[in-house]
Amino acid sequence: MTDSPRITPVLAIVSGAGSAGKTTTATTLAALLAQDGQRVLLIDLDPQANATTAVGVDPETVTHTAGTVMLREITLAEAIVSTPIEGLSLVPASDLLDQQRILLGTVTGAEQRLKHALRGVEDLADVVILDCQQGVGELFPVAALVAATAALTTTFPSTKELQGLPRTEGIVTDVADAYNPDLALVAVVPCSVPPVGAGRFYAEAIDALQGAYGGLVTPPVRRSVVASRAYDQRTPLPIGASGEPVTEDYRAVLADLRAKGVLA
Ligand SMILES: Nc1ncnc2c1ncn2[C@@H]1O[C@H](COP(=O)(O)OP(=O)(O)OP(=O)(O)O)[C@@H](O)[C@H]1O
Ligand SMILES: [Mg+2]
Repeated sequence: MTDSPRITPVLAIVSGAGSAGKTTTATTLAALLAQDGQRVLLIDLDPQANATTAVGVDPETVTHTAGTVMLREITLAEAIVSTPIEGLSLVPASDLLDQQRILLGTVTGAEQRLKHALRGVEDLADVVILDCQQGVGELFPVAALVAATAALTTTFPSTKELQGLPRTEGIVTDVADAYNPDLALVAVVPCSVPPVGAGRFYAEAIDALQGAYGGLVTPPVRRSVVASRAYDQRTPLPIGASGEPVTEDYRAVLADLRAKGVLA
């Protein structure tokens, strides 16, 4: 009997709403998994390059991105750079992605090219995390969903953000139908959740989230200035603020994703 082939989980972190906690979640989960000894590949698909910055790589130094790979100018392996965090490698982003998106707009099947580039990724990484820009219908988020084994979304517990979730769910379903039948939205992470003392409004929003998405909703991540400071210091939470309650919240999110079978 032969062993079944290893499948590297590819987790796309997407949301229709901006400033919803995607990058904080992507970089924190990536650093937690790297600390656990996994080979983690973080792919930054946002021209804002916040994930690149957050893990300590200067976007000004970036000469190639996932867009360069999708244009088939270099391979995925050639696009990977190391980060200051042991076990965490990165395909960085910069505003080059803006031009590359326009070039890729003329390429038939561009949305499938990240998936093709990730063939054989099990030799490079045990887990891949894709940090996407706001807006699920854009080329790069769609390419991420085509390439992903699972989709995760993040949301702030407030009306506007919650209203965006059905659209995110709809795009995941559309991509699954068209390209990737195994794809599903596997988790909704409530991010930057204010303390109970902030009033019933937020608690009711979490209740509404649980009513609509049930078991997909992970434990909440509290609002904490420590999360913003981690970005300012270009050091993910588990590295620079390991013992902080907000980092513990993310450990609970990771445990929940493991319990759901999303991550190993
Ligand atoms: N738990 C938290 N507590 C306080 N601030 C937070 C928390 N999580 C994220 N933030 C801050 O909220 C802002 C948005 O977070 P983040 O960049 O992770 O969202 P995003 O969804 O990736 O945004 P974009 O759509 O621009 O890519 C950032 O300034 C970040 O530092
Ligand atoms: Mg972001």
